[in-house]
Amino acid sequence: MNDDKWYDLGDAAELSKQPLQQVMAGRNKLALSCVDGKFGVIHGSCNHVGGPLGQGTLEGDYVVCPWHHWKFHRVTGLGEPGYEDDRVPRFEFKTKNGRLLVSTAAATSRNRLPHARHPLDRDTQREPGPLRVVGISTTIMDNAHPRYSTSEALLETALEQARNKHSLETRLIKLRELSFRACEGYYSKSAQACTWPCSISQMDRKDGMNEVYENLVFWADVVLVATPIRWGAASSLYFKMAERLNTVQNQITLRNRVMLKDKVAGLIVTGGQDNVQAVAGQMMLFFGELGMQFPQFPFIAHSRGWTAEDMERNVEVVRQSRELHDGARALLDRCLDLAARLQTSSAPEFKRAGRKASGLERNVP
Ligand code: FES
Repeated sequence: MNDDKWYDLGDAAELSKQPLQQVMAGRNKLALSCVDGKFGVIHGSCNHVGGPLGQGTLEGDYVVCPWHHWKFHRVTGLGEPGYEDDRVPRFEFKTKNGRLLVSTAAATSRNRLPHARHPLDRDTQREPGPLRVVGISTTIMDNAHPRYSTSEALLETALEQARNKHSLETRLIKLRELSFRACEGYYSKSAQACTWPCSISQMDRKDGMNEVYENLVFWADVVLVATPIRWGAASSLYFKMAERLNTVQNQITLRNRVMLKDKVAGLIVTGGQDNVQAVAGQMMLFFGELGMQFPQFPFIAHSRGWTAEDMERNVEVVRQSRELHDGARALLDRCLDLAARLQTSSAPEFKRAGRKASGLERNVP
């Protein structure tokens, strides 16, 4: 019902029973609150990236956005103390014949304060220069008492090859040395709530994943990922990283923005027990979904099988295997070969075509 630009939200007594709820006034989404019998009506879209304030929670007189927890005063719409000028519209309301009416005409204006740009929030254009190789080791160990890691040893052999044979710059990221939070499921709230830079990176400037994002998205042309096999799967740190990379894949889903262009992935999988094909297959699917390319024969692997419980021997085999270390060097060479060809491809319009254009858009959470 529209009474002289006043929208009827419903029975005031009924509406007062919920501390915070989302209501519609025409096409306006509102956050309606009621504390101690006193209503407040502010706009329902958060200043950050549009989270539904009416579906949030109340903290005193502040509405807490359910997506990334920005706060706005439930009556005035002003941001939390210190951020008052970051405000959402506040609406006039009144009760008439037991009904709660709101006017969308007399709303205050929205104001967004400029927020400092996150360092990762920039163009993904490749910096000029020779090919660059990053290795990501996902194995876990006590850094104070290191052990020989078969996957990491092969990765180091491949990186040495890049430096010694090809005179290229390399970097090695050991995930175990980074402090970072597991994905907290912003995508599960809404695809729009999973942002680039990652919501966690934006809230935590010391987020260790920044090193992975910086090297994977911006710096490297070749990414070598090494993992042990743990109970038939890649390491738990690998999956912790993979979940945090949903922010990269989600940019394709949301904006058709392919952030990993012309980048090549090579995989190193070793395990005291088997399941090489499943581990490598999962990793190939994942990095393929991020937009990475693979060389011919994209992984090397080693396992002595299900019954090989004598792990010391497993370590010795990898340590002394010329074939495996040569394989790591050859994997690196294949990755570089493809990366070089991608950099000099004469048909960029084809390789840069977005997935939405080809009808392939989808998300793998
Ligand atoms: S805090 Fe509201 S959308 Fe991010």
